[in-house]
Amino acid sequence: MNAPEPAMKVPTAPPRALPHVLNTYGRLPIALTHGQGCWVWDTNGKKYLDGLGGIAVNTLGHAHPKLVPALQQQVGLMMHSSNYYEVPLQETLAAKLCELSGLAGAFFCSSGLEANEAALKIARKFGHDKGIERPEIVVYEKAFHGRSLATLSATGNVKIQKGFGPLVEGFVRVPLNDLAALENVARTNKNVVAVFLETIQGEGGVNPSRSEYLQGLRKLCDQHDWLLMLDEVQCGIGRTGKWFAHQWAGIKPDVMPLAKGLGSGVPIGALVVGEKAVNVFGPGNHGTTFGGNPLAMRAGVETLRIMEEDGVMANAAAVGAVLREGLQRELAGVAGVKEIRGAGLMLGIELDRPCGVILQRAAEAGLMLSVTADSVIRLVPPLILTADEARQIVAMLVPVIKTFLSEA
Ligand SMILES: Cc1ncc(COP(=O)(O)O)c(C=O)c1O
Repeated sequence: MNAPEPAMKVPTAPPRALPHVLNTYGRLPIALTHGQGCWVWDTNGKKYLDGLGGIAVNTLGHAHPKLVPALQQQVGLMMHSSNYYEVPLQETLAAKLCELSGLAGAFFCSSGLEANEAALKIARKFGHDKGIERPEIVVYEKAFHGRSLATLSATGNVKIQKGFGPLVEGFVRVPLNDLAALENVARTNKNVVAVFLETIQGEGGVNPSRSEYLQGLRKLCDQHDWLLMLDEVQCGIGRTGKWFAHQWAGIKPDVMPLAKGLGSGVPIGALVVGEKAVNVFGPGNHGTTFGGNPLAMRAGVETLRIMEEDGVMANAAAVGAVLREGLQRELAGVAGVKEIRGAGLMLGIELDRPCGVILQRAAEAGLMLSVTADSVIRLVPPLILTADEARQIVAMLVPVIKTFLSEA
């Protein structure tokens, strides 16, 4: 496939000698200019296969032929109005999300941490409404929920919290997949109002919650009148082969933050809630300027529509299996490969040592990916990835891993 020529001249960056952007990311010296499907090109014309999807964001890949004209039309009609007035597209997207999840209502914002912040506020207000003055929320080791003060406090990673104390209080931390630990919290802490976890931990190293654990959690939450809050910011929107990852366990949460893949690249966040939480917020309790603006809503509506029309979710399951089987086959018995895990097109390959350098080596080989939790190579490509492209990922990645492991 050839690089498409951008139709308009795109503004270029000033020379590198002028670093005005704050140094918050450890970036590689690669600047991407455009993409097509699951392929992206950099300023030097080098082509990469996108195994990262903008960190689980570009559900429909790049420059999708159905999404682009819809968004162009919306830009021409209206991008932003304000929440002083009705935004009919919010109703359309909320109704669709409720249909897909079986939940009852949605609040819109613009990112994952904002959706999580709204979840934490709902949990606290839910507690206050029933007379608990100091509500506490159960959170998890290795969790990642964002980088605002409340969400980094809920996050289970001291590196992310370091330097930002005092942290927000009101969290109790437990290990994942350990129901006894949670039962112990239930016995000893009467201030708990909610349990908050990623159905599959993403930044923490692609760690799935087991189905039996989720089912046990659901029961425990019902018994104690707690909210079950499942952060599906990364694993939701079809990535695992179901609309939401918890659906594999046959349960429903009370509160579900979404973001990333919902807008295929347009910033968006959503808090979807069930009956138990649908009346917790009233007018004046929560809000945001950009949340639910017509451009973001159109991106969400069209992403879900195109996914349904083109069978994108079934593709994620089928191609995810091709990718996983390919990796398992080629890496079987390779010393230093600990585990390959995940679901659908959210896969992690855990090595027995820190492997951050693989990011750059893979890019040199023409593959975009990420490394999380120091030693887990993470693949979260667009959900339109083809089986042939999955095989190309395997062909590019396996030699990079083998070379790396043979060096140490
Ligand atoms: C599970 C999860 N929750 C929340 C967030 C935060 O989302 P955002 O970066 O859009 O604030 C992330 C981001 O990686 C995430 O993976």
